[in-house]
This record gives sequence, structure tokens and C-alpha cells, in this order.
Amino acid sequence: MHYAKITERLQGLGSDKWAIHIEGKERQSRGDELIFLSIGEPDAAVPKAIMDVADRQMRSGRTRYSNGRGEPQILRALSSMYSQRTGRHVSPSQFLFLPGTQTALYVAFMGVIDLGDEVLLPDPYYATYEGVIAAAGGIPVPVRADPDRGFHLSADDLARKIGPKTRALLLNTPGNPTGTVFTSDEIARIGALCRKHDLWIVSDEVYATLTYGNTVFVSPFDDKALEERTIVVSSVSKSHAMPGFRCGWIAASEEFCERVLPLSETILFGSQPFLEDATAFALENHFPEVDAMKVSYERRAKALIAGINGSRAISARMPEGGMFVMVDVRKTGLSGDDFARRLLAEEAVVTMPGESFGLGGAGHLRVALTVDEEEIAEAARRIKRLAERVALQPSR
Ligand SMILES: Cc1ncc(COP(=O)(O)O)c(C=O)c1O
Repeated sequence: MHYAKITERLQGLGSDKWAIHIEGKERQSRGDELIFLSIGEPDAAVPKAIMDVADRQMRSGRTRYSNGRGEPQILRALSSMYSQRTGRHVSPSQFLFLPGTQTALYVAFMGVIDLGDEVLLPDPYYATYEGVIAAAGGIPVPVRADPDRGFHLSADDLARKIGPKTRALLLNTPGNPTGTVFTSDEIARIGALCRKHDLWIVSDEVYATLTYGNTVFVSPFDDKALEERTIVVSSVSKSHAMPGFRCGWIAASEEFCERVLPLSETILFGSQPFLEDATAFALENHFPEVDAMKVSYERRAKALIAGINGSRAISARMPEGGMFVMVDVRKTGLSGDDFARRLLAEEAVVTMPGESFGLGGAGHLRVALTVDEEEIAEAARRIKRLAERVALQPSR
């Protein structure tokens, strides 16, 4: 049978990157006890009040067809949230409600990328980015972010990669896997480059609510001068521990939303009204559970780093945001992939190798902060134990 080229473009860009996580799940189903720190799935429960709204709205008949943009309530909630954030009026017609950030990324790239267009992305990058760019026919162009500079991207490095086919930049702040949050200076410099070369900025802000210490979240969308070229993608998956709800959105210019509306209609013909209502409620109200999640991620990150500190073979830096810590294993002489495999085999801890996030992640492990402090501390002991064992082995 004949298959479309997209199936070739996506070969190897799907679940292969999660091979160690999948192996861990298989071992767990055979009865092995493992510590899972592999995927960015919040362990907290959905705030009860949000569950109640979803349940009530479903039972009250909000189960009919919606439309490609979203129900008026959720569009109003988004408008109010972004107007407050940016300090200017962001109209309800500047949003599309979509099933999660992942679909929002898909719609964003389908809306701006033609076959052969290049998309710049700071490397390391989230594991689905290559696939979602390739699905639209684009070519991902990684720009290495230096681990020794906290994975902060240099605007000069970015500028060097801009060519005649460059169409867009994919930013992710706070970053997965890096935990890096771009400063306002960095956003300004990157934004100036994008204006100069007339590039779109796709800004993945799914971790926007999770910043630590004095770190402040900054979005290019909040700069009026960058609004027309910025496409924000986000969701309540991480902020409200609702990944299974698949509730996310695009925030962009009215023109962009108008242009891609038929795409959303073609893919979905609308989301579930009762979930849109629950998301509107989530965004319009304040939940102590949401604050508690942020506090616990920060504590867990500190516990992990404290557990690793003092090792001669590995090191880790406090993330500025997000829900991951990158552990640098380069001094062990092992790749991130080899280290993660041995960690699973010898210490029953499941992590993601940095290499799953591009060459820029090489020699690192990504640790998700999705178990309690005690278990994180135990995982840190095991990671350190393996690192010391490897470091003590005579090199061949
Ligand atoms: C950077 C980043 N973008 C997007 C997603 C997907 O989020 P959603 O559940 O909203 O589709 C994730 C999930 O881990 C992520 O880490």
C-alpha cells in the first residue's frame, strides 16, 4: 500500500524516545518495584472543586458539539487572564481552545510552516518538538544551549543559524528538560532578531506558573511589539495537574486565529463543552492545591540536588522553573543513555536520558520531580551510588 510522506518523516520521532520509560513500565507490570522519574506527569490530584464543575457540567447536558474556537466562557476566561498578564486588552478572538499544548503546537506549525521551512529550537528541547515540526513538513534546526551556562541560549548562536528558509523559532520557557527560564533581556534580544528576520515565535508556556526563587516568567507575547508574531501554546496539564483532561489553547493575533480556525475545525470540530467549562473555572479561580504543587516541586528539586551534592562524578543545578532537574553525568564517562539504562538495571530508578531531548542534552539525565521528597532523596542516593561506582571503575 502507498503511505504518505508524513509517515516517513515521523519514523523514529514517536515513542522511541521513551524507550527506557516503556521498559520500566514493562518491568513494573512483571512485579518490579521501581522509582519512576521519567515523565512529566504531575502526581497531585486535580483540585476537587474543578472535578466537581466538570462532573456537574457533564451531568447538566454540556455534552453537545462545541465549535472550533471554544465556548464563549473559556474564551472570556482566557481573555481576562491574558489581559491581566500583559496589561493590555487581549480579545477573546485571540484564542483557540484545543486539546492540550501538543495539539496547539500542531495547529501552530501547520499554520505557519511550509515544506522545507526551517524552525530554530534551543537544544535540548522537549521530545515531541522534532516530530511536530516534521509533521508540518518543517526542518528542525537545533541551536545548542550551553549546559555550563545553565542552558541559556545565546542570541548570537541563534543569529548564526538564521538563513533564507528560517520561518520560526520555538521557545519553551520554563524549559523542559532544562528548567531554564529566559530573562526579559534574553527575550528582548531574541525578539529583536525575530523582528529583524520576520520570524514567528512559537512560545510553549506550559510551565509558566512554575518558577522558583526570584525567577520571573517572561513571555514574548507580553511585549506589544512581538504580539503579532508570537503564538503562545499552553494548557492546564501542569498548572492544575490535569493532563488527562487535554485542555489547552493558543493565544495569538486575531489574524492568526482566524486563519487557522478551519484547521481546528477540520481536526476536531470542537472540544467537550463540560471540559471547557471546567478549564474556565480553573483559570478564573485560585486553588491552594495549585500553590502547594509549586512549593512541593521546589522542595523536591532541592532534595534531589542536596542528595547529589558532594559527588565527584555528577552534579545538578537548581532549575529556574518547570518540573525537572538535569543531572550532569558527563564526568562519569557514560552517555546519558548508558547511565539511564544502568540506573534502571542496577538501581531500579527510571529517568530519561538527556539524549532523548537532542544532542544538547547529551551526558545528562532528566529527572522528573513527580514523587515525594522522601522518594526523591532515595532516588538521589541511588543515582549517586551508581555514579560513584562507575567513576571508581578503572577505565579500559
Ligand atoms: C514542554 C512541553 N510542551 C508540551 C507538553 C504537552 O502538554 P499538554 O499536556 O498540554 O499537551 C509537555 C508535556 O510534558 C511539555 O513538557
